[in-house]
Amino acid sequence: MAAECVLFSTKKRSGAEEFDGDGLFKPKKSMLSTVPAAWEDPAAALASARHEFGEHGGVNMSIEASATFTVMEPDTMRRMFSGELGPDRDFFIYSRHFNPTVLNLSRQMAALEGTEAAYCTASGMSAISSVLLQLCSSGGHVVASRKLYGGTHALLTHFFPRACNITTTFVDIGDHETVKNAIVEGRTKVLYFESISNPTLTVANIPELSRIAHEKGVTVVVDNTFAPMVLSPARLGADVVVHSISKFISGGADIIAGAVCGPESLVNSMMDLHQGSLMLLGPTMNPKVAFELSERIPHLGLRMKEHCHRAFTFAARMKKLGLKVIYPGLEDHPHHELLKSLVNKEYGFGGLLCLDMETEERANRLMNYLQNFTQFGFMAVSLGYYETLMSCSGSSTSSELSAEEKALSGISPGWVRMSVGYIGTLEQRWGQFEKALSRMQDAGFFKN
Ligand SMILES: Cc1ncc(COP(=O)(O)O)c(C=O)c1O
Repeated sequence: MAAECVLFSTKKRSGAEEFDGDGLFKPKKSMLSTVPAAWEDPAAALASARHEFGEHGGVNMSIEASATFTVMEPDTMRRMFSGELGPDRDFFIYSRHFNPTVLNLSRQMAALEGTEAAYCTASGMSAISSVLLQLCSSGGHVVASRKLYGGTHALLTHFFPRACNITTTFVDIGDHETVKNAIVEGRTKVLYFESISNPTLTVANIPELSRIAHEKGVTVVVDNTFAPMVLSPARLGADVVVHSISKFISGGADIIAGAVCGPESLVNSMMDLHQGSLMLLGPTMNPKVAFELSERIPHLGLRMKEHCHRAFTFAARMKKLGLKVIYPGLEDHPHHELLKSLVNKEYGFGGLLCLDMETEERANRLMNYLQNFTQFGFMAVSLGYYETLMSCSGSSTSSELSAEEKALSGISPGWVRMSVGYIGTLEQRWGQFEKALSRMQDAGFFKN
């Protein structure tokens, strides 16, 4: 069934606000909500999401850059603050609360992830911390994968216990019995993991983990930063999907942003004037940034296909050369069959691959040649950029982990994470990789 496509022009409010017979506003289905009845694919869902026109009929929406919003009747203000009038009827209070342009991007994010609602934030970290703080109170407990982005790992290991007495048990999420046993009924509020983990590219069995958590009344929060379009965790059973939009979704390595995608009740609770983590902590996205990002989401699918295609091709060729390459699209990856069973068809298996160079010295030498000798890519953290980005995980984005935690997570000292870009021709880029590799050989780095 084709989803309904609602075309919408900016509505101007008149002095006469809409009342029903009793003088009360009749709440309509909320505008936060976007998920179509039949969700097949993220591209289809995005194309079916409401398209917002500009104020003068522009094909692109206008940017609502106002921090505050006027009302025509003094009583409207009270009714907005009481929650009676909200963004579902085009009533906005203040842009730390809902903003129309940020809401438009958030609707795209909800469509992308197939969730009821979403809201965007100033960074991926603020999306993660805000949703966890909304779901857990002081004394609350999280069960989390031990294979997480270093910043999230530090948030759960150090910041939350100190700042608000929220503690975490880290587990191997591939061991479902351990996950089950780590959940303390009544106390554990969240099971948290990454769909494809940073930087080890471990694939989570989202349906099975969600089933285990739900049996014990635990909310499943999945970071899908590594696999937008490729995986749809909420469609596989997760309750909440978080993103660092700074990565693939932005694609430009020029914006820091995040999103929480989930049930409408959760998003609304995060905006609550008394208890909402987004409203009260205020990690607000600028509407100008939201507009920029809204213009990039329509070509996210095309970009992801090329990132994934190149990552797969390079990984296969690197393997043929005898390199220790980790890529879940390769048949010898321990989670290949699982990933194959979970992905949305035709996007591929992710835009990141890893090379285990065993020692930091070898990793650094390779990256140095790849950047400074052959121009294959840049030594930089982050991912999802159109150029290839490479970093040695143990001494950069996972440096927050102790040596023991790194070993447990499978991050060797020579672990090189590569976010494969798509500009230039594939053969041009492969030639640059091979040239750097032969330089490594000449320098005696492949003796044994
Ligand atoms: C998997 C993952 N989640 C979250 C984040 C944090 O996102 P941001 O940098 O947008 O705050 C990162 C950043 O590297 C990440 O890799």
